[in-house]
Amino acid sequence: MSVVVLDFGSQYTRLIARRVRELQAYSVIMPGTAAVEEIRTHRPRAIILSGGPASVFDPQAPQPDPRIFDLGLPILGICYGMQYLAQHFGGLVVRTGRREYGRALLTRHEGRLFAGLTGEVQAWMSHSDTVTEPPPSWRTVAATKENPVAAIESPDIRYFGVQFHPEVVHTRTNVLENFLRTAEVPRDWTPGETLDRLIREVREQVGEHRVLLGLSGGVDSSALALLLTRAEVDHAAILVDHGLLRFGEREEVERLLRPLGVNLISVDASKRFLNALTGVLDPEEKRKVIGREFIAVFEEKAREMGEYHFLAQGTLYPDVIESAGGESAGAAVIKSHHNVGALPKDLKFEILEPFRYLFKDEVREIARLLGLPDSIRLRHPFPGPGLAIRILGEATPERLQILRRADDIFIRALKDWGIYGEVWQALAVLTTVRSVGVVGDERHYGYVLALRAVTSVDGMTADWVRLPADLLNEVAEQITRRVPEIGRVVYDITSKPPGTIEWE
Ligand code: XMP
Repeated sequence: MSVVVLDFGSQYTRLIARRVRELQAYSVIMPGTAAVEEIRTHRPRAIILSGGPASVFDPQAPQPDPRIFDLGLPILGICYGMQYLAQHFGGLVVRTGRREYGRALLTRHEGRLFAGLTGEVQAWMSHSDTVTEPPPSWRTVAATKENPVAAIESPDIRYFGVQFHPEVVHTRTNVLENFLRTAEVPRDWTPGETLDRLIREVREQVGEHRVLLGLSGGVDSSALALLLTRAEVDHAAILVDHGLLRFGEREEVERLLRPLGVNLISVDASKRFLNALTGVLDPEEKRKVIGREFIAVFEEKAREMGEYHFLAQGTLYPDVIESAGGESAGAAVIKSHHNVGALPKDLKFEILEPFRYLFKDEVREIARLLGLPDSIRLRHPFPGPGLAIRILGEATPERLQILRRADDIFIRALKDWGIYGEVWQALAVLTTVRSVGVVGDERHYGYVLALRAVTSVDGMTADWVRLPADLLNEVAEQITRRVPEIGRVVYDITSKPPGTIEWE
């Protein structure tokens, strides 16, 4: 049973699906134009039409398969979704040419969607077309000062439309919850039930076969390793140490996961990677070299270990959604080999992706239930090519050593100050710039190191973190004292866009 969210291109579509899941109902995102036959495969109990950039006046505007109305399911249209419903059932939508954006107050709200809500409530608007008249015999059930038709309801109380965005935190209504209640959607999407289901599914799919897993030490692959352990399937998790990991990272992963039953096999391939990176300056070239070597090492190890039928990958739902593309009508195309790159054709695996319908925060919850220690569970994302893309220019063993020590000081300080958990990602970047300083009475010519800390929801956009000046001061002092090759520390205050999170 699911809530199908039909995506018309809103920047908030994923948020809708996540909010529904936070309300413990399973949700899936499908292209807005998906055919009813495909929608049916998800056993929908209700449908939500997302917002989107299109205007109902545009002849090219994406539209849902009209047969969704034959399914007899409750439907909630949000923003563009509401305008579509209004127009489809004969209401009046007008193009105001004026964009209403941001906070609005619902001065009036009533009916099923707003049950239990009292007083004036804040709602978040982002639209320019507006419904001015509901379809015949439909009822207007909410209004703002600017917008007399902020929500509508069909006479049989099956279809609803809201002009505002109930999914964003700035909207303080209980519309999504009320919609789920009205639609009688089962609320069984709890982490515990999800974990039980995953264990069952993995067992069923894998049977007596053996499973190989590429382990990075991040939350997804570590949780996956624990899931395989819990499902009691025959598995081996290969950790390729490319010599580009952070301080003590491999040892920590080994120390924490092995006692939990993970059959962890580490391969120290650092020499090989560093050799291959000699003289490589260009960031994309670095990625290519590392990707190529990774596959070669993984493949060699896999062959050595004998017959494995499955390759498990920590692919998450956002990857699946992205691979499917906004408007592709087909079911989700899985981004195969997402974690380990394209494996050679003669190494044939069946792909096992138990997390392909989970969001990152759901994996973190599952990981908690599986007993994954917080130091891995709450770890910041770390790029596959590792520190190589945080060293501008050539990644030599000496420069890696310098960066590793500086990075460790920065990360430890964030943890000591209790700030680590509030930050999406924090990193240090070793630049090629050298600058003059003075140490004692001596002239010192050291590297410039940049620190970066950002908040983000999914890494697509990011804002730099206003770290306390005292923390930055402490970190700069420690780094310049304990890592003498570094002469100067700067803090990166660039948002994304325009700056990416990594420097390379
Ligand atoms: P950017 O730098 O593009 O990064 O803003 C967004 C997120 O992606 C991570 N990242 C990578 N991850 N291989 C990876 O596995 C890569 O080549 C790579 N480049 C960037 C980055 O750390 C951030 O979380």
